[in-house]
Amino acid sequence: MTSECTWSVLVTFHFILAAGARGEAVCTVKSSGGKEVLIGSSFTVFCVFNKQCTKMIFRDKKQIEHAQLNSSVVSVDVKNLTKFNTFTCKCKEDPEPCGIDITPGYPPSIPENLICIRKTEFGNVSCTWRTGRDTKIMTTCQLRVKGEPHDGYKSVMNSAGFCSATFPITGSMSQLIVRLNVSNSLGSATTGPHSFTLSNIVKPSRPNISHVECSTRYCSLHTNTHSTHLLEVQYRAESETWKSLQTKTESNLKISSLQPYTNYEFQIRRKINHTVGLWSDWSLTKTANTKEEAPDKVLDVWYLQEHSQSQNKCFRIFWKALNKSDAKGEIKSYNISEKRIKVKSVIVGPTRRHYTICCSHCSVSVSANNSEGQSPDKFIELRSLGLASGIVSHNSTNNHSIALFWSTSTIAGHGTEYVVHWYPFGGTEQLQWIRVVDTKAVIRGLHPKECYQGAVTALNSSGSLIWFLSIEGISTWTSVPEQSPVPQQDWKKSDSLQVKWSEIPQEKRRGCLIKYTVYLEDNKKRDIQNYNVKYPRTQYTISGLSPGHCYKLWVTAWTDAGEGPRGTELPFCTPSDTEKLLSLVIMAGGAVLLTCLILLCICQFSSVQSRFLSYCKCLLPRVIPDPANSKWAKDCAIYQGEIKFPLHQCDSSMSEEPDTVEVEEVPNPSSSTCTYIKSFSQESGSSDTTQITRSSDIMDEYICTHGAISGGEEEDEDEEGMLDEFGFLPCTPSPFLEPLFPCGGKLTLDVVKIDCSEFLDCT
Ligand SMILES: *[C@@H]1O[C@H](CO)[C@@H](O)[C@H](O)[C@H]1NC(C)=O
Ligand SMILES: *[C@@H]1O[C@H](CO)[C@@H](O)[C@H](O)[C@H]1NC(C)=O
Ligand SMILES: *[C@@H]1O[C@H](CO)[C@@H](O)[C@H](O)[C@H]1NC(C)=O
Ligand SMILES: *[C@@H]1O[C@H](CO)[C@@H](O)[C@H](O)[C@H]1NC(C)=O
Ligand SMILES: *[C@@H]1O[C@H](CO)[C@@H](O)[C@H](O)[C@H]1NC(C)=O
Ligand SMILES: *[C@@H]1O[C@H](CO)[C@@H](O)[C@H](O)[C@H]1NC(C)=O
Repeated sequence: MTSECTWSVLVTFHFILAAGARGEAVCTVKSSGGKEVLIGSSFTVFCVFNKQCTKMIFRDKKQIEHAQLNSSVVSVDVKNLTKFNTFTCKCKEDPEPCGIDITPGYPPSIPENLICIRKTEFGNVSCTWRTGRDTKIMTTCQLRVKGEPHDGYKSVMNSAGFCSATFPITGSMSQLIVRLNVSNSLGSATTGPHSFTLSNIVKPSRPNISHVECSTRYCSLHTNTHSTHLLEVQYRAESETWKSLQTKTESNLKISSLQPYTNYEFQIRRKINHTVGLWSDWSLTKTANTKEEAPDKVLDVWYLQEHSQSQNKCFRIFWKALNKSDAKGEIKSYNISEKRIKVKSVIVGPTRRHYTICCSHCSVSVSANNSEGQSPDKFIELRSLGLASGIVSHNSTNNHSIALFWSTSTIAGHGTEYVVHWYPFGGTEQLQWIRVVDTKAVIRGLHPKECYQGAVTALNSSGSLIWFLSIEGISTWTSVPEQSPVPQQDWKKSDSLQVKWSEIPQEKRRGCLIKYTVYLEDNKKRDIQNYNVKYPRTQYTISGLSPGHCYKLWVTAWTDAGEGPRGTELPFCTPSDTEKLLSLVIMAGGAVLLTCLILLCICQFSSVQSRFLSYCKCLLPRVIPDPANSKWAKDCAIYQGEIKFPLHQCDSSMSEEPDTVEVEEVPNPSSSTCTYIKSFSQESGSSDTTQITRSSDIMDEYICTHGAISGGEEEDEDEEGMLDEFGFLPCTPSPFLEPLFPCGGKLTLDVVKIDCSEFLDCT
């Protein structure tokens, strides 16, 4: 039909031109089978020319061989036509063509699937039927109603092969009897009579829900239909399946046994009664929310003991959000209550899932609140647990889950329930846990290449903890670390070195670290030695180094999958023995000189002298420290950093608390091999500030030229650096001061200064 247009438009256009030019067509085309033929049939196309010329026939614009019947008629035999074709004829000398479109098709088959519906009890009847296959050509449908004068309701079959007819019912008919006729140019087919009881094909109009009112567990539907029809209601919560119920029509329909705080969809439809009529279409969907109710399920709560330095034990309590049906509303907050003498409650926001409590042997309850009330309390006893002996074996099932197994035979006591918890290494906030009754569990939702730790805890029937087994370092799809630790020199001697290194960031570890390897390469000998250090230690002392040698070292990290890349190198040279000796000598000389100067200074001024002597009196009965052998000196050799030395109380009028002398050692920035005294101050007990003198003003202030030893400029300084060795020099009266410690050879007077002002005030 549309195909016919192709030709029609073309031909009409040419005809108009031709008629305008000459008043008559050059030729006419005829088909022995007509314009519509049976698919696969054979026929002949004739062209009758009105003038003598060289005749040509085209099939779909392709010239084809033809037979000459006489001087004005040519023909072509067409065999097995299966698709739409256009045949055109024209004279070679004349551009004007004539043509015919031929469409193959089928005759209609017997009509079937007749459905008749009466729209409402007083409306028209609509019938639809189909005719087997698509006839591919224009096909008309006809429906005749028995007992009607009307000569049939006609329509055209649609491309899907359906026919339809709509007609009114006249008179008091109770039975509808119809006959069907479908026809086209290739044939026709009829069926009938088909009989219907009119009341049985009545389909009521679509009902309408005007509004819905809900409480916590039921909803009332209001409709605007007041007929005596049977009504069906269907409803569902979001993404669930429909549930339905049937009832006689009432303007108020009550749907009960609904869930609180849920969004429901409602639809209704109706029919005359159970036995008669057809269902109407479903009404438009109305949605409504049921109201909230207080939650009635206890929370799932778990806890971890935190590693804290303080004496109080601290526990981090975790809880899981209630699922939607248990929450019965929007959870507004969580209530964590600690029961000691009084109940102490903490309310946290709805997104919080953990809270830290510090107490020993306490009972804590956790509950969830929505706007209607509080869930039942979940009590949990916070206790530290003894680690049981036994292991948890594991087996990674895929990239996101691991199966864990443990046995109860090695452990005293059985559990009725086990809690398996896990969290990414160093990220306890992301704790997850599951409860199982078996001695195995599969933990899911793991990120590949991330290291997890956790534990299996056994609970007895009353819910008290019995024992736990820790799970150390599990991961899936482990690969080698992406990064290496950066080594740093801690301290160095001529024959040994302590190296420490930074931790690799979590995301670069690609699994659980198991060890580090420290590589040491001798620059001269070119041989490489390695030392394994178990994770999590991050320092190592290499001994047996040759003095005055240069080395380089680097550190790699290992996971189960292997060793990470070689990282930053740390080059270093050990000091030679002569260097060391020289430093000792210089140190000793410096110390002796220093002592002499102090004495000289003190003896120079009588006022100072007398003060000093009075002070010395209180010191004298006690042991005069011999710096070389003093306990101080020995202790000082052990500690680094800031050291407090209690001073013997010299006067009862002094502060009641034992005063302390605070000494801070500060590295010489120009040489990392020597430490020197940076400050010396007497602390009154209340002050934290450390008095530190600047090394640049030392000469002036140290050698007392104006009758007083002035207090040095006070200044706080935060200097840190590598400390190899250190010496401590108390403001000692001994003139025979010996070097306390070998000291890199760089100790000179210009970097040493002692602030004696407060010391001297102490009378
Ligand atoms: C007719 O043509 C169709 C396809 O064009 C072919 O499948 C069929 O075998 C042919 N029939 C005859 C009788 O040649
Ligand atoms: C019923 O059909 C008749 C004729 O086909 C039409 O005139 C009339 O409007 C229709 N009535 C309804 C209610 O559709
Ligand atoms: C069916 O319709 C066709 C065309 O209108 C007609 O020729 C034929 O007689 C009809 N058949 C019957 C049984 O009414
Ligand atoms: C159903 O409706 C029809 C027609 O209105 C009536 O004749 C029949 O008794 C009804 N049946 C029942 C079970 O109500
Ligand atoms: C928190 O829970 C405790 C224990 O159930 C209760 O005594 C307390 O009143 C609750 N606090 C609030 C603010 O709801
Ligand atoms: C893990 O994931 C990677 C990449 O998606 C895949 O090649 C590998 O086979 C997976 N391993 C397992 C055990 O599923």
